[in-house]
Amino acid sequence: MQKLTIKKILNKKNKTPITCLTAYSKAIAQIADKYCDIILVGDSLGMVLYGMKTTKEIKIGTMILHCKAVKNFTKKSLVVFDMPYKTYENKFIAYKNASKVMKLTKCDAIKLEGGKKIVNIIKYLTKKGIPVMGHVGLLPQTSSNFKVRGKNFVQRKKIFDDAKAISNSGVFAMVLECVVEDLAKKITHKVSVPTIGIGASKYCDGQILVIDDMLGLSDYYPRFVKQYSNLKKIIEKSVKNYVKDVKLRKFPSNKNVYK
Ligand code: KIV
Repeated sequence: MQKLTIKKILNKKNKTPITCLTAYSKAIAQIADKYCDIILVGDSLGMVLYGMKTTKEIKIGTMILHCKAVKNFTKKSLVVFDMPYKTYENKFIAYKNASKVMKLTKCDAIKLEGGKKIVNIIKYLTKKGIPVMGHVGLLPQTSSNFKVRGKNFVQRKKIFDDAKAISNSGVFAMVLECVVEDLAKKITHKVSVPTIGIGASKYCDGQILVIDDMLGLSDYYPRFVKQYSNLKKIIEKSVKNYVKDVKLRKFPSNKNVYK
């Protein structure tokens, strides 16, 4: 199994779709590693694992613990750490936090949300040797709503300019979240780095989904999610059967007993 590198990810643009998923635990990392190019330890873990209302609440220490678990059980995929809210307010804070993250988790890159406003941070980090993935369109850390982006001229221009700006400042790829199809297509054609879409159409260079969403473990499913499983149902059935077995003294059976 050959380790994915940033160079290999860049080389996939206009050739092969880049496959990405989020992961927050050992078990999921082991599976995703077999199939995905990139594993993102997303700050979405605050919402999907801890039931927080927004991604703003998750702390860097908690993210580091999850990223260590993921990275320790990933051999091939590129592991990206999503820098949480307020951990990159200026280039010095960003560098201090990102280098701590890289040192403690041994991840391959970090991800930052934002466009023109964070160009100096991206340049600073990449100059210091920290690979950065960008994220434009809907920005969960700072957005007041989760509506699709790019439906009017002002929004379209801002997102396009942001994508161009971060592409030119050194990101090796960028997430395009929840943007209308034709804008995603235009950005993908005009920027030199791969675009990774989530709710941003098939025209992106790659796709990412939040693992709990695609496995059917979430409470709410935006239109862009395809559910590949209904784990909630499967888990509920298993829990129900276990409780039934215990009540009927069918579990543990002879097979589960030490004699
Ligand atoms: O936190 C996350 O999971 C993300 C993805 C939605 C791209 O940023």
